[in-house]
Amino acid sequence: MNFRGQFRVRLDRKPYPEIKHPEDAIVRVTRSCICGSDLHLYHGLVPDTRIGQTFGHEFTGVVEEVGPDVKKLKVGDHVLVPFNISCGRCAFCKQGLYSNCHESNPMATASGGFFGYSHITGGYDGGQAQYVRVPYADVSPTVIPEGMDPDDAVLLTDVLPTGYYACEMGGIKTGDTVVIFGAGPVGIMAAKCAWLFGAARVIVIDQLEYRLEFVRNYAQCEAYNFRSLGDPVLFLKRTTDWLGADVCIDAVGCEAAGSALNTLLGRKLLLQGGSTTALHWAINSVKKGGIVSIVGVYGPIDAAVPIGNVLNKGLTIRANQASVKAVLPKLIDHVMAGRIKPSEIITHRFPLEEISEAYHIFSRKLDNIIKPVLIPNAA
Ligand SMILES: NC(=O)c1ccc[n+]([C@@H]2O[C@H](COP(=O)([O-])OP(=O)(O)OC[C@H]3O[C@@H](n4cnc5c(N)ncnc54)[C@H](O)[C@@H]3O)[C@@H](O)[C@H]2O)c1
Ligand SMILES: [Zn+2]
Ligand SMILES: [Zn+2]
Repeated sequence: MNFRGQFRVRLDRKPYPEIKHPEDAIVRVTRSCICGSDLHLYHGLVPDTRIGQTFGHEFTGVVEEVGPDVKKLKVGDHVLVPFNISCGRCAFCKQGLYSNCHESNPMATASGGFFGYSHITGGYDGGQAQYVRVPYADVSPTVIPEGMDPDDAVLLTDVLPTGYYACEMGGIKTGDTVVIFGAGPVGIMAAKCAWLFGAARVIVIDQLEYRLEFVRNYAQCEAYNFRSLGDPVLFLKRTTDWLGADVCIDAVGCEAAGSALNTLLGRKLLLQGGSTTALHWAINSVKKGGIVSIVGVYGPIDAAVPIGNVLNKGLTIRANQASVKAVLPKLIDHVMAGRIKPSEIITHRFPLEEISEAYHIFSRKLDNIIKPVLIPNAA
């Protein structure tokens, strides 16, 4: 795929990727998803998203070629490739902060390199393609276990790990009430995983009825439409004995709806790093001393948040891009044991040729879409 500017992606023929470093591999993509994060690129909200980039950070594929220093992966291996590009040996990777690798993103020192995610995360081409270059091939790419459904495997590259990571950062304990803003793929997975951490009550907030209905069934949780709640913070206080939730998770990020002012400042005028509506709600509806866990993506520039409330309520805020590799072994176990079936969120399959259509439908949330998968014809 080829990014041509805001709201425009198209199929294009690009050169076959080359091994540029001895630790690279070339992977023939078998499945590739479109993520809510890709929509921020598509909508022109991520700085330095360059014309000509190939997006795609959630993919599986077969190893076609390996560089001379690749020792573990072999040609022919079917792998799932976490979205973070990590060197595995810098101080941050050694702490398990694979999404903050200090070596893989020469453009910045905040996030590490990601596949297909603008030049602020390294400028790597992504997996919405037939072939992709995979750096540090021995570090994060993982051979898909025998018997695992390839649709489950592709959701282990981002969405399920991110939902799980959100819960882990939220420090969910037995008996906790957890509120999750966003019933997209990430929020749905966070709702499912919250129970694994011992939550006693899981509440999801969104504005799309079909997603609320889905998450209610899939994650066996409560789900409410903020459009019919009046003030969602008041509602959440009322339903938690006026104390608030123990943990709030922001799984919405910079394109949050629900406040005309935040939409204007963060999405239209780009005066702050996104619309912070869900984050405001999270901070204002969590209990005193509670934890707000942010996985929804915001831009690098400043954004107004109610920091006074964070201070006066004694809150802990934790946020990151998920370190997929850090949580993968546990999640592979859960999937293999049948405790979680992430592929149940896949609602749409498109041949890679229909990429423009796929982006349009996912961006506009048409046809009750939850998670689209792209299948290249060489798959
Ligand atoms: N941190 C990470 O590692 C990581 C990984 C993947 C995705 N993300 C981010 O997570 C977010 C969600 O991703 P997704 O794929 O689920 O996206 P998505 O676009 O499919 O879902 C977002 C959902 O939020 C809902 N929403 C909008 N405003 C809301 C509000 N004020 N309150 C509650 N819900 C609201 C939308 O209706 C939509 O259903 C995005 O910002 C994405 O970039 C982060
Ligand atoms: Zn993603
Ligand atoms: Zn590193």
